[in-house]
Amino acid sequence: PSEPQWAKSVSFHDSYLLKMDMTIEAALENSDNNGLPQIAVPNNEGKFLKLLARTFGAKRILEVGTLGGVSTIWMAQGMPQDGRITTLEVSEKNAEVAKQNFENAGLSSQIELIVGDAHDTLAKLQPSEPFDMIFIDADKKSYPAYWTEARRMVRKGGVIIVDNVIRYGRVADLEYEDPDVLGVRKLVAMVKEDDEFDATAIPTVGEKGFDGFMYAIRL
Ligand code: DHB
Ligand code: MG
Repeated sequence: PSEPQWAKSVSFHDSYLLKMDMTIEAALENSDNNGLPQIAVPNNEGKFLKLLARTFGAKRILEVGTLGGVSTIWMAQGMPQDGRITTLEVSEKNAEVAKQNFENAGLSSQIELIVGDAHDTLAKLQPSEPFDMIFIDADKKSYPAYWTEARRMVRKGGVIIVDNVIRYGRVADLEYEDPDVLGVRKLVAMVKEDDEFDATAIPTVGEKGFDGFMYAIRL
């Protein structure tokens, strides 16, 4: 089916299963108004992240790639009051918008936003306890490096979710060799050889086209 049909189908199910969420709507609108790219997680994926956080009883989450903080807010909504999210963002501008969005959502005290290149931030992160859940959703060319850091900081039984591992099928199409596609391809090769993790990739379709995420648990 064509992309509009996918989008229609997703909004049909969303209309039953997702309540209108003002904090998310406001964050999306504020992100738009500030010119951020419209690449935040779709609502059904955000809701899934929230449900996962709740399923795991996650109290400590790490996110790589904040953008306007939409996914951060989704995940925070699945956590208890004493849950904490650390989220990393390279762009000062995105971080400023995310900060406003966290403030508006009343979540600032639960979210630590660290501005800077995630390569540097991750290398320095020494969490007192490992994370229950890590969501990687930043520049795809750096996924191998982000994976290498994330894998040492997630607890046994915890999950690492990596967004955008399908990219319209380009990751699987060897004709494509741009750095982002190569980054994702290298990531899946690394995870294949990683005996401490078990993983699967789930393709998705919707208003943002054909993509998908990887779901990996630390054994
Ligand atoms: C892009 C990045 C994302 O994280 C996403 O979910 C969709 C698109 C992009 O850079 O094009
Ligand atoms: Mg993404």
